[in-house]
Amino acid sequence: MERSSTSAERSLNRKVLLGITGGIAAYKSATLLRLLVKAGAEVQVVMTRSAHDFVTPLTLATLSKRPVLTDLFVHDGSGRWNDHVHLARWADVMIIAPATANTLAKMAHGICDDLLLACFLSAEAPVYVAPAMDLEMYKDASTLSNLNLLRERGVRSIGPESGELASGLVGEGRMTEPEAIVERLISDLLGASKLQGRHILVTAGGTQEAIDPVRYIGNRSSGRMGFALAEEAASRGAMVNLVTGPVSLTTDRPGVTRTDVVTAAEMASACKSLQPEQDITIMCAAVADLRPKDPASNKIKKQGAVRSLELEGTEDILAWMGAGKRKGHILVGFALETNDELIRAKEKLERKNLDLLVMNSLKDEGAGFGHDTNKVSLLMPGKDPEELPLMSKADVARIILDRIEELI
Ligand code: CTP
Repeated sequence: MERSSTSAERSLNRKVLLGITGGIAAYKSATLLRLLVKAGAEVQVVMTRSAHDFVTPLTLATLSKRPVLTDLFVHDGSGRWNDHVHLARWADVMIIAPATANTLAKMAHGICDDLLLACFLSAEAPVYVAPAMDLEMYKDASTLSNLNLLRERGVRSIGPESGELASGLVGEGRMTEPEAIVERLISDLLGASKLQGRHILVTAGGTQEAIDPVRYIGNRSSGRMGFALAEEAASRGAMVNLVTGPVSLTTDRPGVTRTDVVTAAEMASACKSLQPEQDITIMCAAVADLRPKDPASNKIKKQGAVRSLELEGTEDILAWMGAGKRKGHILVGFALETNDELIRAKEKLERKNLDLLVMNSLKDEGAGFGHDTNKVSLLMPGKDPEELPLMSKADVARIILDRIEELI
């Protein structure tokens, strides 16, 4: 078993659409972008044409590791366009920093003459603006009334601050410092999570059971669902122990301590030793139910090899946890059923003494092994099953953790 750990701190694992408009404060947008990425966010930059005069797309593309977008239409004869609807739906949050008087005015009046404004009009996610302009422009009745109109419609304004302005005047109009913007986003988006400071054990991936030193019995679990859960829990401030079977995934999310195991027996022993300090356990791993009884110590040759394997059961870790569950300990299991799904899942929920069971059905296209998406139903004792639509594993992780927070 191999262990590596990092310290716990909150991170912003959200998709951020960063709009940059043409004001001198745009030079701070590069720092804001850097801080957002450092905090764990995936950032797509959309900038207005005039913002190019203040900060280069190359700088922003390098920092965000994504092409920077400006125009609605791609002028390369291909007839393509930058799909504002898709971009706006992709984002968990949109922040326009700096937001000039001109862009605020257009936002307030539904003008849509560039990609940034088209994204704003299409946005379903919360939209923040960090206004930045000179004193008189900010104090102008039209700017103040545009900003008020936007606030009334739910746009959240950060700043502006008072201080020295680019003109040399002193007063209101400075863009809020990037550190404070990131702090505000983290506190608004992650809220005061009930997972803050809690110990959570998450298992991920599948186990491998040796037939001989070369071959094993395994399964198709990629580990993605478990990793998404571990990362989301850590970004809500939990101290996460992630016990994973062999997977090709990595995580550098602060707050996640990873233990690598190979077999069901190793996973059982890692989980049992971590169990006493856990507040919540999420058994997402596809643990082998059976293993070869007598794995060969040398490679089995095809000449003269027996054609059948004798198997024995592994320990059911989740059932062991359910049987000895402490008061207040929240236990979450996963089930993958192919027929009579709900009946079997309900039975498993009770038999294993679980607080929540996440049921995958292999019948659903795009769900389960090897996909980035998943379609699950959530079962809790005494409640009707909650059937979720097909969504990304990161989004499924968020809903599972929301439900767990409701249970705390
Ligand atoms: N699990 C476990 N230890 C095992 C096998 C499974 O902890 N040895 C956990 C999984 O991590 C998952 C849940 O049990 O959370 C579902 O396991 P599953 O194999 O679907 O259910 P079983 O109870 O083994 O029943 P069946 O094989 O009949 O579906």
